[in-house]
Amino acid sequence: MKVVVLGAAGGIGQPLSLLLKMQLPAGSELALYDPAPMTRGVAVDLSHIPSRVQVAGFTGRDPSAALAGADIVLIPAGIARKPGMERSDLFKFNAGIIMDLVQHCGRVCPKALIAIITNPVNSMVPIAAEVLTQLGVYDPRRLFGLTSLDVARSESFCLDMNREVDAPVVPVVGGHSGLTIVPLFSHVAEHYTDEQLRALIARVQQAGTEVVEAKAGAGSATLAMAYAALRFCLSLVRAKQGEADIREYAYIEGGHPQARFFSQPMLLGPDGVAQVLDYSPVHSVEQAAIDGMLPTLNQEIQQGIDYARNVLQD
Ligand code: LMR
Repeated sequence: MKVVVLGAAGGIGQPLSLLLKMQLPAGSELALYDPAPMTRGVAVDLSHIPSRVQVAGFTGRDPSAALAGADIVLIPAGIARKPGMERSDLFKFNAGIIMDLVQHCGRVCPKALIAIITNPVNSMVPIAAEVLTQLGVYDPRRLFGLTSLDVARSESFCLDMNREVDAPVVPVVGGHSGLTIVPLFSHVAEHYTDEQLRALIARVQQAGTEVVEAKAGAGSATLAMAYAALRFCLSLVRAKQGEADIREYAYIEGGHPQARFFSQPMLLGPDGVAQVLDYSPVHSVEQAAIDGMLPTLNQEIQQGIDYARNVLQD
């Protein structure tokens, strides 16, 4: 199994690479790419951790050498927001980065499973889909926007509130920005009032901003994001190795009648999404949150599509 991290020297990339070095199955290869010259050093540093995972660092302007033979590509590349910014404010910085990296993925490892962490995820995934379509290699089963941090946060807030719950399952649907993040706390056995559900939804929607503000200009979530990306990557690995019934959540194409891309539960298989799962029942408070955010989600999707089509035409 070969896993590639594009943006490996950054705030998410480094802890993610550390976790992967420690937790990928024995015999895996881990390729770290980042234009920052220190990337080879990050790989050397990690190579001193005893595990049967081979790690190599790649730098320069072209990630092709890192991508050769990749099974899974994780992309945290790009810049993070500062206090006062929305994820959408990162669009103009990160869109070009994603276009370039995904073009290389499409050319070098067209069958790889690609998970995009770079914000705004709601627009970056449509950009990637357009790029891969233009290259003639787009397979919606293989492209994901990472939303497992929203799931992890929902589980974590649930554990904080309920001492008797050990492993809460909280599906999170919609997208990965502000109001588009809709956690379904009604799936937890505990009964919540409408008021409590509204407060919990808002808490998860604002969790990324809570970290950005607490870090006071030094970036956004890196450690919990690295954990969430590891968790998702290990699910992809297990599915690729033939394990059945791997349930995950991610932002993917298909499965929702009113949005081309939507985050939702799914079963994974060796080729990526094997089956989109139903997430009903949905409480009326949650349904109102989904209905209310759809115009925003669709506008963010369209922004990505329009950008990619304009650039690809030139
Ligand atoms: C998060 O949810 O923490 C990330 O999307 C980073 C951010 O800017 O909020």
